Amino acid sequence: MNARIIGTGSYLPERVVHNTELEKLMDTTDEWIRERTGIEQRHYAAEGETTVDMAEHAARRAIEAAGLAPGDIDLIVFATATPDLVFPNCGTLLQARLGCTGAPAFSVEAACSGFIYALSIADKFVRAGEAKRALVVGAETLTRITDFTDRTTAILFADGAGAVVLAASEEPGILSTQLHADGSYKDLLYCTGGVSKGYPPDSGNRAVIRMAGRETFKVAVTMLGNSVDEVLAKNGLPKSAINWLVPHQANIRIIQAVARKLDLPMERVIVTVQDHGNTSAASVPLALDTGVRDGRIRKGDLILLEAFGGGFTWGAALVRM
Ligand code: ACO
Repeated sequence: MNARIIGTGSYLPERVVHNTELEKLMDTTDEWIRERTGIEQRHYAAEGETTVDMAEHAARRAIEAAGLAPGDIDLIVFATATPDLVFPNCGTLLQARLGCTGAPAFSVEAACSGFIYALSIADKFVRAGEAKRALVVGAETLTRITDFTDRTTAILFADGAGAVVLAASEEPGILSTQLHADGSYKDLLYCTGGVSKGYPPDSGNRAVIRMAGRETFKVAVTMLGNSVDEVLAKNGLPKSAINWLVPHQANIRIIQAVARKLDLPMERVIVTVQDHGNTSAASVPLALDTGVRDGRIRKGDLILLEAFGGGFTWGAALVRM
């Protein structure tokens, strides 16, 4: 039995923040942000709008696209680093709204790689026969852990949600997923506080993202390059078999480096970083839904998903649509 993606959905909060708005808040320029990151604008959640609020929109769209009703879902795997609450986990909060009572529902925390991790877990449930119609979500309110006094990170992060529905199928779907982590890099990209460790003095009990950008960039390019090679080799497929690369949208220069490694022209890469910024676990499903809904990604296409994030964590998934 295979797990196939039969529906995708996404949601972006209403408020659009252009680079020029950030110029007024911090010592930066539209030109610098575009050149170094590729970002032109991003979306910020409204006050009171939460990760699960956004996830619900994305999930309902994915379920509708799959031709199912919310009650048909028998597993929810929810990737986020910015949960509404410590518990109940976001998966169960979403389940209560969708009404698919009784199905297992849980969250996965692997920063920007969260969606690839969640997809990999859901795939295994379906292959093992323990779920037939799984909802996999990536959703974040990263602006709640963004330090708007730090121009090196504040320009990058944003909010949004994406989701896919996986169904058990005899046709091929998720061909394989490759997950990795190396916790020895924990100090290059992290959040400054948490429930158990507490918060730094004078932080007002607010945790924020800290990143050594240049160092993170180098490791991301190397590890993602290795990951795409690995997932192709595992499936005995050449680079030329890939129809679309759907990468994590952290930085256009990282995306271009991975595309070069795959000998893929940028016309074969779904790029949303200019409009979405870095939405962490939401980034890959948001890009995937964009490519599906605008008609570029079609049934039968071979797509390669990849992501890299805090931990460091990283991974790739090869998927027949
Ligand atoms: N506006 C203007 N200047 C800036 C800004 C800004 N917003 N931010 C930094 N600068 C300055 C720096 O101070 C530095 O000045 P200096 O040369 O006088 O010291 C100069 O610009 C260059 O800074 P770098 O950090 O070297 O810039 P770089 O080209 O590396 O770009 C960036 C920074 C965009 C953060 C890049 O390193 C990057 O994308 N890193 C990887 C991000 C990533 O993939 N993260 C993983 C996923 S995220 C997650 O898991 C939550």
